[in-house]
Amino acid sequence: PVTPGKQLPTSVELPVLPAVEGAKRLAAYAAVDDYVGLQHKVIGIGSGSTVPYVVDRILAQGLQANKERVFIPTGFQSKELIIKAGLTLGDVDQYATIDVTIDGADEVDNELNSIKGGGACQLREKVLAEAAETWIMVADYRKNSHVLGTTWTQGIPIEVAPFAYAKVLTNLSHMGSLSTLPNGKPGLNLRMGKMKAGPVVSDNGNFIIDAPFPEEMMKKPVDLLHRIKMLTGVVEVGLFCGMAKAAYFGNEDGTVMIRR
Ligand code: 5RP
Repeated sequence: PVTPGKQLPTSVELPVLPAVEGAKRLAAYAAVDDYVGLQHKVIGIGSGSTVPYVVDRILAQGLQANKERVFIPTGFQSKELIIKAGLTLGDVDQYATIDVTIDGADEVDNELNSIKGGGACQLREKVLAEAAETWIMVADYRKNSHVLGTTWTQGIPIEVAPFAYAKVLTNLSHMGSLSTLPNGKPGLNLRMGKMKAGPVVSDNGNFIIDAPFPEEMMKKPVDLLHRIKMLTGVVEVGLFCGMAKAAYFGNEDGTVMIRR
């Protein structure tokens, strides 16, 4: 079910932000209000540019006051966020069960399947999603989609062991990954750093391949996930299927759409 147009109850005037940033903030604030409370003692914090608003709202709700409440990061960025906010830092190897994790997403379909890993954090993100009794996604309106791969066209982020990447690229290509994107640019790619001096390296020391697939295959994300995961050398796939309890999308008009 979808709840469109929920207004965020807020007692304070919020600073004006550009539309997309405002939408991220709305989604994050509404998700924290609905899913994070005093009863929760172990909270997972995801990665990306929407998640800082999750931490903002946690602080505004006073949830940091109890130092026994522990916050678990999905990577370096969220670890820094947790420390800078003065929250108590924990790790998933200490807390195999997390009460609630809130994370961003690159694209979410009607069934709450998602593409994640735009920030190369999908392995830890998936471990925290699986460890969480409740896993919630927060995003702006651009991430709301019917079929995965429609708006996130650069491909499914796949974390691979560095020495296996060439073999995985070949096997993905045999599986039917596209060699060119709809815009004519090369598709199946080892993700390179901004300066193109070398590959992006994840927090776990692995490389990232971005693999686009034809729409027919993207329409069956569970099958695709299982097939990619079986390739030797693949550590984790940025397809999250059947894990989320809800997705919150901030809209440009100041409302939040909730998909459950
Ligand atoms: C990182 C992720 C992020 O959650 C995803 O890229 C969304 O980021 P943003 O909130 O900046 O749109 O999966 O690996």
